[in-house]
Amino acid sequence: MKSKFLDYKGEKIAYKVRGKKGKAIVFLHGFLGSKELWEDYSKRLSKTYRVITIDLLGHGESGCIGYVHSMEENASMLKELLNSLRIRKIILAGHSMGGYVALAFAELFPDNLNGLILINSSASADCKKKKSSRNKLISLIKNDKQKAIDLLIPTFFESKKLHRNLILKYKRLAHLCSKQAIIASIEGMKIRKEREIILHFAPYPILFVIGKRDCIVSPIQLLDFNTSEKELYVEELDCGHMSMMEKPEKVFRVIKQFLNLK
Ligand code: MLT
Repeated sequence: MKSKFLDYKGEKIAYKVRGKKGKAIVFLHGFLGSKELWEDYSKRLSKTYRVITIDLLGHGESGCIGYVHSMEENASMLKELLNSLRIRKIILAGHSMGGYVALAFAELFPDNLNGLILINSSASADCKKKKSSRNKLISLIKNDKQKAIDLLIPTFFESKKLHRNLILKYKRLAHLCSKQAIIASIEGMKIRKEREIILHFAPYPILFVIGKRDCIVSPIQLLDFNTSEKELYVEELDCGHMSMMEKPEKVFRVIKQFLNLK
């Protein structure tokens, strides 16, 4: 299936819609990824749901609109896409940075959500140490984008040996991003707000999928969270930061189960 395009602030935003009927579910990829990562999920779920996948700003086939792509800007771009498709309520799933965007969307457009799925993601803001590691990454990208990507991507996966092919696939997607796009996303993640309040008060169910050996987003931050207050489901998997690639069947099953609850 070919991508469709939305005009947003003078740039093209790529997306795909599969399935004509059922509730709408939107999937957001993480930093350096693309909507391609959700192809299998989208095909399988489209029998019962209307599935939308989108390339976030500066990723995949989508253009760059500036030097900082904030989580809020990505969320507003998603809202514009939903308006153009005349979709009001969605279940929103985001992996890592896609989860940060999903939380920004939840804050800006609370009436448009009826479920939230956060995969290897977190509602916390960056700590001082994380911000400084992001600054180092920006310098590396400025000096040598290719080398920086080749060093960074393997750290997303639990095992360099076991996940060799997945690492190659992710690197291929990452290389589609320009220097400007990569830096704009890093800057956007660096300034993102803490949004834990959403986890406490959102009037819809939330699912967290976490990787036991995730070295990018600490699972401890999530496990410490008191889940007794509301419909908050936590699924901890035996994998690294890329659970939907490392454990696709398991993640698919968990998402399906969550969707069936509603
Ligand atoms: C991602 O996978 O989206 C990012 O690495 C998340 C992050 O750096 O916080």
